[in-house]
Amino acid sequence: MERIVNTQQAEAWNGYEGQYWADHSERWDEVVGGLNEPLFDTATIGRRDRVLDVGCGNGQTTRLAGGLAAQGHALGVDLSEPMVKRARIVALRPNAGRNGSPSSPRPCSAGHPGPTPPTRTPPACSH
Ligand SMILES: C[S@@+](CC[C@H](N)C(=O)[O-])C[C@H]1O[C@@H](n2cnc3c(N)ncnc32)[C@H](O)[C@@H]1O
Repeated sequence: MERIVNTQQAEAWNGYEGQYWADHSERWDEVVGGLNEPLFDTATIGRRDRVLDVGCGNGQTTRLAGGLAAQGHALGVDLSEPMVKRARIVALRPNAGRNGSPSSPRPCSAGHPGPTPPTRTPPACSH
């Protein structure tokens, strides 16, 4: 059973707000992309890490994390249905760099679909 605690956020990101972000994902990737360098400098993702991107939105940071964790895995989760839908579409493009392997209602993911043993506590990242 799904239980939504913050209904205002869920309504906003599944309503106009989320649809707007999904429809203009390239623009928003540019807007929030300025945060990527300090984010990934801090997260120090290793090649074999398994990364959880909470609030992945359209999935830009999940895809980038998947590239850094080249022998690991990056999983993005988000409460916005339209943005996760968008993230899955982009992740499956050949130029996304990594394979997408969505596996449950609202995750988006990038990385190897198979299990990889973690080498340390998985980093978590989000904007
Ligand atoms: C400002 S957007 C940023 C999206 C993405 N991290 C990026 O850099 O493009 C914030 C995201 O957080 C998500 N969000 C808000 N509350 C959440 C929650 N409780 N659980 C999961 N995702 C949440 C929204 O749906 C939205 O996609």
